[in-house]
Amino acid sequence: MIYLDNAATSFPKPPSVAKAVAGVMEKIGGNPGRAGHKGALAGGRIMNRCRELAAQYGGLSSPDRVIFCLNCTDALNMAIRGTLRAGDEVLVSHAEHNAVMRPLMGYHDAGKITVRILPPDSRGMLLPETVSAAITPRTALMILCHASNVTGLIQPAREIARACHLQGVPLLLDAAQTAGTEDIASVHADMIAMPGHKGLLGPMGTGLLLLGEGMLPRPLREGGTGSASESLRQPTMLPDRLESGTANLPGIAGLAQGLSFVLSHRAAIAEYEHALAYRLRRSLERIPGVTLHTGPAELPHVGVVSFNIQGMDSGEAADRLNRAGIAVRGGLHCAPSVHAWLGTSGAVRASIGPFNTEADADALAEAVKSMIQ
Ligand code: ALA
Repeated sequence: MIYLDNAATSFPKPPSVAKAVAGVMEKIGGNPGRAGHKGALAGGRIMNRCRELAAQYGGLSSPDRVIFCLNCTDALNMAIRGTLRAGDEVLVSHAEHNAVMRPLMGYHDAGKITVRILPPDSRGMLLPETVSAAITPRTALMILCHASNVTGLIQPAREIARACHLQGVPLLLDAAQTAGTEDIASVHADMIAMPGHKGLLGPMGTGLLLLGEGMLPRPLREGGTGSASESLRQPTMLPDRLESGTANLPGIAGLAQGLSFVLSHRAAIAEYEHALAYRLRRSLERIPGVTLHTGPAELPHVGVVSFNIQGMDSGEAADRLNRAGIAVRGGLHCAPSVHAWLGTSGAVRASIGPFNTEADADALAEAVKSMIQ
């Protein structure tokens, strides 16, 4: 199978990832922070190492500001539900995933908050000046999908962060499609949600919420933390405040290996994936009957290329590609707002990972060509 669904979850992973997961399962007896014996301490060291690597990638002042989550959706929920208060107004881009829109619209429909979707320019870019003009005294948060999981277009996040900060509004960055390839630290976002299992090359069931200075979301889950156990009240210090219950240590051990791989190779991975996606895009746009759903080629994109084949439902096209040995994702990709903006009711999405080759991209283009002829 040629795997081109890395935007859903990356595959394969560096071999060190599975080895680390198995290493914890086979060799470590102990629950980090819950005892002082050798196994519990070894587990704690693995968690600390992972936190340090994530803090380094996100440009955080302290590893304690790295929170382990179940996935990026969990991290976004933690940031959104833990930060907003009744009466707040939230600004979002047109490209937000349901992981952002559903928690927000639940509050919006209940009359608790106001959500405003900001329009992009004709290319799909949200301009910083649009954000500046939209901010009101009630704006409590701006949420930005760093790169769309449908168009792959990377938004000018650093400039949008600056526009927000000039008016005292924090920025929550949804780095679902950029963590692992893009320079996240230079955005200077106030909160960053990342999946562990996509560009960071870790196992599924892992995610991260990175908290900038001054950000202290209220916990969604409370319980045992292994710290301040004499108290019946949730600790206020990070990361314990937001990490009740036993951690996914095997997953975190794998994520530490994924992060370590990414930190050593990030710029090369980004360049490689961007070039491969560009190659795929160039091949697909030469096929009559194929419509691409990307931004203009001169704008920055992650390794995501979505398209439709004239007269064919995207689900059917994805099925036919599956039967031809190519894994892609059809449909709405849990991002109906961006499809509405594109005017599509679904698309076929190919997404590149660091272990794909030019031959993989060319095989997809050939398969699409044969589906049209
Ligand atoms: N959000 C993931 C995707 O885009 C799962 O496929």
